[in-house]
Amino acid sequence: MNNVLVVVYSHTGTSRRLAELLCSQQGWRMTEIHDEEPRRGAVGSLRCLVDSFFRRRPAIRYEGPPPERFDVVVLVSPIWGQRLAGPMRSFLDQKRDRLPNIAVVSVMGGRGAPNAVAEIGRLLGRSPTLATAFTMREVDDGSCATRLQAFGTAVRSSDDSQPGVRPATLSPQAT
Ligand SMILES: Cc1cc2nc3c(=O)[nH]c(=O)nc-3n(C[C@H](O)[C@H](O)[C@H](O)COP(=O)(O)O)c2cc1C
Repeated sequence: MNNVLVVVYSHTGTSRRLAELLCSQQGWRMTEIHDEEPRRGAVGSLRCLVDSFFRRRPAIRYEGPPPERFDVVVLVSPIWGQRLAGPMRSFLDQKRDRLPNIAVVSVMGGRGAPNAVAEIGRLLGRSPTLATAFTMREVDDGSCATRLQAFGTAVRSSDDSQPGVRPATLSPQAT
């Protein structure tokens, strides 16, 4: 399966770098979710936490292709306050009826990825086909590359005949 779209939200650039690496490894297309209201400085960081705490759906801009044109959408997003980053929640809320199979990559300091995967499952009414997580450190020092390649290979070989692939299959050591 190679008709895969990678949708990334990134506040400080780490998730974007990981998504770019995944796309360069697999030859997939990447598209980005943007905040309507930029998150600058301490106030911006506070807003990230408030969005997470109240599970808010902040205003976003998505100018990528319709996700329903793809067989799989890979979501790449940071963890905030041990939860899914708000802009990715907004994307799921807006597109939930038009999403094909979903795979999830969380990027974090070290805690909260399972909560994000569980929330995505609740929002969509079905579990992601695959999920994994990387620490910021693994992205920064490049040690994420091998496991990311394995994740991409697993996404490629996933299809509807494999409903038993559990989100925990590719979880990181850090969670
Ligand atoms: C407001 C805020 C809250 C965060 N909360 C968590 C957290 O609960 N758990 C965690 O592991 N990392 C947390 N982080 C770290 C981010 O998940 C990590 O830096 C990630 O790489 C950021 O991705 P980005 O550069 O794509 O925005 C938080 C970062 C910010 C800015």
